[in-house]
Amino acid sequence: MRALRFDGRPVAGNGPAEILPGRLVVVEGADGSGRSTQISLLKQRLEAGGWPVVDVGLRRSGLVGPEIERAKKGNVLGPTTRSLYYATDFADQLENRVLPALRAGFVVLADRYVYTLMARDVVRGASPEWLESLYGIALVPSAVFYLQVSPQALVERNFHRSPTLDYWESGMDLGLSRDWFGSFVRYQQRIEAEFLRMRERYEFAVIDGNRPVREIAQDLAARTLAVLGE
Ligand SMILES: Nc1ncnc2c1ncn2[C@@H]1O[C@H](COP(=O)(O)OP(=O)(O)O)[C@@H](O)[C@H]1O
Ligand SMILES: [Mg+2]
Repeated sequence: MRALRFDGRPVAGNGPAEILPGRLVVVEGADGSGRSTQISLLKQRLEAGGWPVVDVGLRRSGLVGPEIERAKKGNVLGPTTRSLYYATDFADQLENRVLPALRAGFVVLADRYVYTLMARDVVRGASPEWLESLYGIALVPSAVFYLQVSPQALVERNFHRSPTLDYWESGMDLGLSRDWFGSFVRYQQRIEAEFLRMRERYEFAVIDGNRPVREIAQDLAARTLAVLGE
């Protein structure tokens, strides 16, 4: 795994030569793409094979997670404030959850990572260079899997889960459409285009997420085990 850097310097005792024995596996994908479903199956599969697993996700930091939840409800966050909230949450979890687990040799399964944060901000006009420097603290994952699901299937899956769409996941702040479904589809298309643009630079493996749950799970497990050296 490549060294962590923060502002060009090593972070808190984490020397650039430190070799982390764990592995960081990221699952990216839109809201409703099946990340939670797949991460839970992958965790079971890896644990059954004797791998110690920790799972992490966005907005779970004790430091600012609840703060982001509160701010989201007001729907009034400016784009830069929002970026910085998420960046703080990310840095806190990296330092306090991800790094300790990787040092201890765990497989860390991340439900979304900096790529989602970058894509959301780029479609809102942020500069990719600024975002790369903001998230320059991130560790380069051992593998990044992007679950690609058609916008129509996403709408169905989200609707199946709950009869309302999320304000932010529908990009309602962007004024793309006054109706939530129209906005959701257009917003998710923009996010997907951004993911596909980032694909080569950050070496994502694209997984066809339109298939049945078990089929995707088998594919993901085989690819993950290959990364883990099995
Ligand atoms: N491959 C799949 N085919 C059909 N439905 C799925 C599939 N994967 C997940 N779902 C369903 O879609 C909804 C969203 O899945 P979830 O795993 O919660 O997505 P995410 O965590 O990416 O938002 C759930 O109701 C889930 O049961
Ligand atoms: Mg989920």
